Amino acid sequence: VGAQLGTGPLAGRHVIVTSGPTHEPIDPVRYLANRSSGAQGTALAQALVRLGARVTFVTGPARAARPVGCTVVEVETAIQMQDAVTAALPADAAIFAAAVADWRMQAETGSKIKKQAGGAPPSLDLTENPDILKGIAGLESGRPQLVVGFAAETDDVVAHATAKRARKGCDWIVANDVRPETGIMGGTDNAVTLITEDGAEDWPLMSKRDVARRLADRIAKALG
Ligand code: CTP
Ligand code: CA
Repeated sequence: VGAQLGTGPLAGRHVIVTSGPTHEPIDPVRYLANRSSGAQGTALAQALVRLGARVTFVTGPARAARPVGCTVVEVETAIQMQDAVTAALPADAAIFAAAVADWRMQAETGSKIKKQAGGAPPSLDLTENPDILKGIAGLESGRPQLVVGFAAETDDVVAHATAKRARKGCDWIVANDVRPETGIMGGTDNAVTLITEDGAEDWPLMSKRDVARRLADRIAKALG
């Protein structure tokens, strides 16, 4: 990884990173999920480790190889992810790169839902998952000094992301345009807009690894 333990601008700092999708079981053989390779969250965790941070990496079932030098916590559902993040506190910063499923089944079924011959498809009764980012950003005591969310949008990226930053109470939002024609979802490059209290900052198209490095540098500066 290249970083000596205990050196670098983030030495002595603890950073929590969430990454990947969550899976919400429908029945024992099916689940609801978001599309997420975990690439950006993994690259970010790796960049933070390089700067000397102690990183707790809370990941859903993602394709990307796990980052090296982190404490890795593997979860499946949004509720498990929330529990893992809470258990990892206190932290100096918390970065929410995960694509958390917004809904889960209202009632878990232990039996497989069967097709009915000639029947209508089942309707699924869903309930909203807890908003992990909003919960941590709103902590009255023990809030990390820096709380960063991601926003994957398909239209009016800056407007939506700016509204999201206010709604969630986080310090920064890293927004990206995930319209299929951008190739960002599942690809190696990313074009992000960083939304802070000072406004929107467009970063040029670069690799997810370079986005991660630049973001890690900004996090180090912000923590001072
Ligand atoms: N997030 C979270 N917990 C959730 C949903 C989202 O922690 N239950 C975090 C994501 O990790 C991300 C940020 O919130 O950092 C924004 O996620 P996004 O899905 O864009 O926001 P939502 O509030 O779910 O709005 P939308 O209706 O656009 O999906
Ligand atoms: Ca969502």
